[in-house]
Amino acid sequence: MPELFLASEAETEELGLRIGRALAPSTILLLDGELGVGKTTVTRGIARGLGVEREVTSPTFLTLKVYATSLGVPLLHVDLYRVAAEGYLEEQGILEEVDEGAIAVVEWGEKAGDLQGYMTLELRITEEGEGRRGLLSAGAEWKERLERVGLEI
Ligand SMILES: Nc1ncnc2c1ncn2[C@@H]1O[C@H](COP(=O)(O)OP(=O)(O)OP(=O)(O)O)[C@@H](O)[C@H]1O
Ligand SMILES: [Mg+2]
Repeated sequence: MPELFLASEAETEELGLRIGRALAPSTILLLDGELGVGKTTVTRGIARGLGVEREVTSPTFLTLKVYATSLGVPLLHVDLYRVAAEGYLEEQGILEEVDEGAIAVVEWGEKAGDLQGYMTLELRITEEGEGRRGLLSAGAEWKERLERVGLEI
């Protein structure tokens, strides 16, 4: 997809909102990017796009937070920052939850280990230090759903 420029925190959240509106049950979205790049901000938007009414806060100390969505499946917000071992998603039963319909958004997704059929959003701080760049990757089966919310892959 073309790299997106996100000029402000509001634009990062807006990208999340669009992604959230496109997501479907049984999906994993891995969020990559350095400390403080905007992974939780994007997740806040995703939650809004999924009709979550509670406020999303960083799960860093808890590793996992669960929110009810309007799709009738839970949103699992995972933060692997403090998790050392690969395989956490499987060991904690998160992959099983996803199989049963849950949507998992995973901060520090590169630590998730081997997974199949996931979507990735890579965030980067721009060279100038202002704003962010976002790169969304997903399988071709997502093309239409993402186009409907104005996103290209
Ligand atoms: N496009 C943007 N331009 C400038 N600042 C932004 C942008 N998007 C988010 N931010 C800011 O980046 C900061 C960090 O955001 P956030 O907590 O979402 O990052 P994170 O990647 O989840 O961090 P961590 O790695 O600690 O979990 C916030 O202060 C937020 O306002
Ligand atoms: Mg975070």
